[in-house]
Amino acid sequence: MQIHQNFPLKAYNTFGIDAYSKYFAEFESSDDLQEVLSGVQNPLLILGGGSNILFTRNFDGLILKNEIKGIKTIHEDDDHVYVKVGAGENWHRFVLHCLDRNLAGVENLSLIPGNVGASPMQNIGAYGVEIKDVFYSLEALHLKQNKLVNFTLNDCEFGYRESVFKKKYKNQFAILNVTFRLNKTPTFNITYGAIKEEFEKMNISKLSIQAISRAIINIRQSKLPDPALVGNAGSFFKNPQVTNSELTKLQLTFTVIPHFKVDDEAFKIPAGWLIEQCGPENGTSWKGYRKGDAGCYEKQALVLVNYGNANGNEIYSLGEEIKISVKEKFGIELEREVNIL
Ligand code: FAD
Ligand code: EPU
Repeated sequence: MQIHQNFPLKAYNTFGIDAYSKYFAEFESSDDLQEVLSGVQNPLLILGGGSNILFTRNFDGLILKNEIKGIKTIHEDDDHVYVKVGAGENWHRFVLHCLDRNLAGVENLSLIPGNVGASPMQNIGAYGVEIKDVFYSLEALHLKQNKLVNFTLNDCEFGYRESVFKKKYKNQFAILNVTFRLNKTPTFNITYGAIKEEFEKMNISKLSIQAISRAIINIRQSKLPDPALVGNAGSFFKNPQVTNSELTKLQLTFTVIPHFKVDDEAFKIPAGWLIEQCGPENGTSWKGYRKGDAGCYEKQALVLVNYGNANGNEIYSLGEEIKISVKEKFGIELEREVNIL
């Protein structure tokens, strides 16, 4: 396994930040990883597709890029097919694999960038579905103890953009493969209004997982920037949750505040809306704002972008300014979704 020194990361993060790693290597198997770990010093970062990371400085340690491949059916029963996927597989390639074989469950998660290994990290989600809905188990290596550990659905403690791997086991494991439980018979999830609208536009009358995937790809392409053209890491913040009474209080001042019911106690407020209502100065909006090469995307205010040569600190600082203005106007503290390094 080749270990590179002073390695450029620009092509390895979708923000396109021009940072360097002191050391960098790629591993294709658990054995490779175990071998390199035996002589390793901290800090250490396991990297997937780099689509949920913002480098604010050079990385003063070893970055290990997960290149474990393979998509394999390992079990089948009357209702389900269990598919084991290498952590280094591209997420959307796995979605296409399922669509080709009529395996349902991940169609709503079409076109999410990044790799399969990172999908349980933050329980990726879109259009009413999260990976916890199809997750069966995963295998991970404990980086310090050099021990393989199996995690079931319960072990992962999935929540909205959350898992044990972001909390109590932060930076402790490398995820090697994930097993998904796909459905032979689809349960279509088109609760997200935009999907129905897109179906009408596409003139689709018959539901299928392939049609849902196509509709979602169209919606995503219409509002999210393509990282190959404009650097970004998707939503920079999470959508905040408020209680019933907090919402009622906000509605006294902001009568049209959009909100979505989570459960009897909680509502989600779209952070994109909150950000759009605030700006660098009174009467202006962050949406479409640009300072140097750092910006807030003109079609989706929740996405911060790098128009070319912004550095990580410029993007981070813009995020902080946005956070402060939302706090001042609405009293709501936005929580970052992107991992800051
Ligand atoms: P990376 O950015 O490489 O890593 C993310 C974190 O996971 C890091 O902390 C890293 O150390 C850790 N990690 C990665 N792989 C492993 C591993 N094998 N073992 C242990 N730790 C690991 N996300 C959504 O949930 N829904 C969306 O709709 C969505 N849309 C997006 C749209 C765009 C245009 C972009 C750019 C991003 C979007 N994202 C979305 C965010 C991103 O795609 C996901 O978070 C994705 O899962 C990140 O995968 P990655 O391989 O790029 O992870
Ligand atoms: N909105 C605005 N202005 C904006 C953007 C959004 O007012 O500039 C409001 C609108 O009311 C809109 C609502 O926000 O109806 C929701 O917007 P959208 O459907 O674009 O979704 P989102 O809440 O902004 C979340 C996820 C996305 C995921 C989509 C679709 C988070 C943090 N983000 O975005 O995930 O793709 O829903 O399910 O939960 C990501 O995690 O990186 C990501 C892109």
